[in-house]
Amino acid sequence: MTRPLIIAVDGPAASGKGTIASRLARTYGLPFLDTGLLYRAVGMGVLASRASLDDESAAVAVARSLDAATLSDDPRLMTGEAGEAASRIAGYPGVRAALLDLQQALAHQPGGAVLDGRDIGTVIAPDAPAKLFVTATAEVRAMRRWKQLTGRGDAIAYEDMLADIVRRDERDAGRGAAPMVQADDAVLLDTTEMDIETAFDAARRIVEAARVRNGL
Ligand code: DC
Repeated sequence: MTRPLIIAVDGPAASGKGTIASRLARTYGLPFLDTGLLYRAVGMGVLASRASLDDESAAVAVARSLDAATLSDDPRLMTGEAGEAASRIAGYPGVRAALLDLQQALAHQPGGAVLDGRDIGTVIAPDAPAKLFVTATAEVRAMRRWKQLTGRGDAIAYEDMLADIVRRDERDAGRGAAPMVQADDAVLLDTTEMDIETAFDAARRIVEAARVRNGL
């Protein structure tokens, strides 16, 4: 039996990993999960219940009751507030444990899947035959995110965006539970000097090489 084509796309915020991962999913006809949405939904759920983001047990309760089927294109999940809340609750081991089965089940479907996040290649699907770690300098990522947010009418200064990105990187990479780290067998894709088309082509070549290597 051939192994499922699991494509793990990890990396920091605004590296391009989300766009790359969703386009890979379309290209290969695979289901796709943006795992950041799970953490964003939990963070916003904690805020909606008026609990504190410092309250681990409140965050674990929200994570356990999360219905992934209701994760919609809710624009509130894409705000800076949701990203910050997600990063805060993502450090709680109980939250990560509550979201583990759902992500692993999606990853290990017979045909495979594409998942993007921070710990896909290290924790969720260490057996994935194709792993990418997508990154770019903090300055370039902050500029991308700033253009995206101001383009849809949010008022935010570039300097604040950069500080936000740097703080989030430190928190995501510095936590004890499943920190953001490049898996040993992941291919690094630095998109600093690339537009999205160039980055996607490079990502597809990495996946093609992995398919050949694994006979998929
Ligand atoms: O990829 P994103 O910006 O939507 O992720 C939001 C936050 O969620 C991120 O700062 C850290 C957390 N996260 C995580 O810890 N593990 C994942 N697999 C995905 C996201």
